[in-house]
Amino acid sequence: MRQIVTTANGDIDVLKVQEKPDPTPGEGEVVIRVRAAGLNFADILARQGLYPDGPPKPCVMGYEVSGVVDAVGDDVNKSFVGKSVVAMTRFGGQSELVAVKATQMSEKPDQLTFEQAAAIPVNYLTAYALIVVMGSLHEGESILIHNAGGGVGLAALDIAKKIGAVTYGTASPGKHKFLTDRGLDHAIDYRKQDWQPQLMQLTNGRGVDLIIDPIGGAHWRKSYASLRHTGRLGMFGVSAGSGNGFSGKLKMLKAAIQMPRFHPLGLLSKNRGVFGLNLGHMWHEPEKVAVWMRDILRGVEEEWIRPHVDQAFSFEDVDKAHRRLEERKNIGKVVLIP
Ligand SMILES: NC(=O)c1ccc[n+]([C@@H]2O[C@H](COP(=O)([O-])OP(=O)(O)OC[C@H]3O[C@@H](n4cnc5c(N)ncnc54)[C@H](OP(=O)(O)O)[C@@H]3O)[C@@H](O)[C@H]2O)c1
Repeated sequence: MRQIVTTANGDIDVLKVQEKPDPTPGEGEVVIRVRAAGLNFADILARQGLYPDGPPKPCVMGYEVSGVVDAVGDDVNKSFVGKSVVAMTRFGGQSELVAVKATQMSEKPDQLTFEQAAAIPVNYLTAYALIVVMGSLHEGESILIHNAGGGVGLAALDIAKKIGAVTYGTASPGKHKFLTDRGLDHAIDYRKQDWQPQLMQLTNGRGVDLIIDPIGGAHWRKSYASLRHTGRLGMFGVSAGSGNGFSGKLKMLKAAIQMPRFHPLGLLSKNRGVFGLNLGHMWHEPEKVAVWMRDILRGVEEEWIRPHVDQAFSFEDVDKAHRRLEERKNIGKVVLIP
């Protein structure tokens, strides 16, 4: 089988398509013939050597796939063979074949293409955990979705709209029309201007009830200051620290130094909550994640979960796929096709 191998830390030239032996399913596992694999910002950070959760190099990244079950382990229901599925993969998803625990897969909804299905697991589970599970967003409340045009951002918009919240989103300006057409109430340009005064003006100086922030560093400080009373800040990424080579390391260091410290008495007096999320640290809680996934797949049937694929790239064009995310051009999900 062919796999996308990140051979070392570095720029896109470290990405190589290589032949490896086919996997066989172990205990409790299935082997999926991959039809589409999701590309995530974590894959970019891992290639840059800035992702502490990534496997040692050389490695095959890939947290999610859609495809068809090719083989099952001895202790797994044989009727899974031939079924179209979508699954979370603990790396290795960017391959023609991947072995995963049967508990990490769900049946692919018929109405989704394989490409759309591969856009579901990471983006929607992350957005669901941030907004529904930890952020507890309610009808009539307001949410600021940073990086609203990205994969997680669009997923968050679907969920916030379904709840009936007022939605604010920061994004590069070229994405604003797409976002408002899709239902975002207020698009904010955070590239050319400071987003905070714009948000405060739009909310009559009050701020919002929930902010989900994957930028990190000093950005979290500003997001925290933009909460209204009983507001919550969900922190889930440090894209501010992304960059190649030495400049990337410096940016990540700067982001770490600029992170805010939250004092319990400050939280208490301002009626604010803060929380962090790392979906990649939930492998030991499959039952919880399965419940979230069931809700998300029900949302696909009810048509309020609308995975949006920005572009599909062949494995051989993985360098272009990485560039699209790094150059901030994507709207929604980038997927890789074996
Ligand atoms: N903790 C978790 O469990 C978890 C799970 C999934 C993702 N995440 C995090 O969520 C964020 C979004 O991930 P994603 O996979 O959905 O990616 P994405 O948003 O689809 O991809 C990149 C987009 O991020 C925005 N961006 C902001 N700062 C950037 C920078 N310094 N360099 C490049 N792009 C930047 C750009 O959009 P605009 O310029 O239009 O904003 C760009 O188009 C990332 O920080 C990721 O690490 C965390």
